[in-house]
Amino acid sequence: MTTLIRRCVCPGSFDPVTAGHLDILVRAAALFDEVVVAILHNPAKSGTFPVERRLELVRESLPHSVREGVRVEAFANRLLVDVCRDVGAEAIVKGLRGGTDFAYEMPMARMNKHLTGVETVFLPGEAALEHVSSSLVKEVFRYGGDITGMVPDVVLEALRDLKR
Ligand code: PNS
Repeated sequence: MTTLIRRCVCPGSFDPVTAGHLDILVRAAALFDEVVVAILHNPAKSGTFPVERRLELVRESLPHSVREGVRVEAFANRLLVDVCRDVGAEAIVKGLRGGTDFAYEMPMARMNKHLTGVETVFLPGEAALEHVSSSLVKEVFRYGGDITGMVPDVVLEALRDLKR
């Protein structure tokens, strides 16, 4: 008898991973047998953290309870639908913080469905983290604001290291 593994991809830049991302990753892990966290990047653009560091920060931030069912990989210059096909994922899981995310994500979900038939599953973001994004936390941190609780502790440390 063959067992069907239900696998999803959680894509993003994760530069760096936030508490909002982690909330979605943990909830995706409860819905699927396997979650592939896909860090999609363009090697021509450096970003805040090198992609290898982003991978480490996601891996180190994952609660132990989900580590077995979640793998974290980087993909350079790839279409998300091709990543899904390569890893054997039937769905993409994304969090929606509000209407702006919805407007941004809908055309991508439809385009991805059009290209290969892959479905996108949207999870409502945790209300308490609605204002949290990688770019905003970096900006707040840069000017000395308190981002405790918005990012995992390892990310806070990594941001402090960047400033030193
Ligand atoms: O964390 P982000 O920056 O919001 O993630 C956006 C990301 C990387 C998920 C999106 O840009 C993406 O899917 N890029 C891969 C290239 C691709 O497939 N583009 C067509 C989307 S319809």
